[in-house]
Amino acid sequence: MGMPTLLLLLAALLLLLMSMSMSGCSAAATYKVGGLDAWGAPPSTKPDVYIRWAKSVPVKLGDAVFFLYPPSQDSAVQVTAKAFAACDVSDPLLKLHDGNSLFNLTKPGRVYFTSDAPGRCRKGQKLSLDVPAADGKLLKPSADDEAALKALASLPPAAAPTEALPSLSPDDDDDSGSVPRRAGSIALAAALSLAAALML
Ligand SMILES: *[C@@H]1O[C@H](CO)[C@@H](O)[C@H](O)[C@H]1NC(C)=O
Repeated sequence: MGMPTLLLLLAALLLLLMSMSMSGCSAAATYKVGGLDAWGAPPSTKPDVYIRWAKSVPVKLGDAVFFLYPPSQDSAVQVTAKAFAACDVSDPLLKLHDGNSLFNLTKPGRVYFTSDAPGRCRKGQKLSLDVPAADGKLLKPSADDEAALKALASLPPAAAPTEALPSLSPDDDDDSGSVPRRAGSIALAAALSLAAALML
């Protein structure tokens, strides 16, 4: 094996190592909330769409969620557990109304979102997400968290019992809108094929 080949092989190895660290489970993902066309009041056929969506996305620390909606009609506000339970949107932690609102999940714990358009929170346009700590463990919910969860469970009043949900078809769950970064795996594939070519 000549010197240039050796160098190439070393380069391939380096690339491989780099891409491995990039494509690890730490790659950040961005999720479009709800998997619907837009963030809005839940359709009558899917009153618990945001509850089910929250259960379907494997969010982790560093991920982001985005809300897509017509900015003239809606908003995305992050609220406390208490405000979430009471649907009190008068003093949100964070309010975005640009129509394409990105929230970064940078702290472990439960986060709460709703809309401050009149009546929307009470119609079930609310989302609670559990962000695990860096080690993947969920934090112990506070009393406020428990109360918020209870409020969510009682929403909306017209919701059908779980076993009678007609919309629990498999194709419902793959539109969670995950856009994980693929760069890592592409680099990995490139490095692997380069290494394979060199070994022939
Ligand atoms: C989330 O992070 C992106 C950049 O990564 C930034 O543009 C955006 O403003 C952040 N969102 C919030 C609510 O801070």
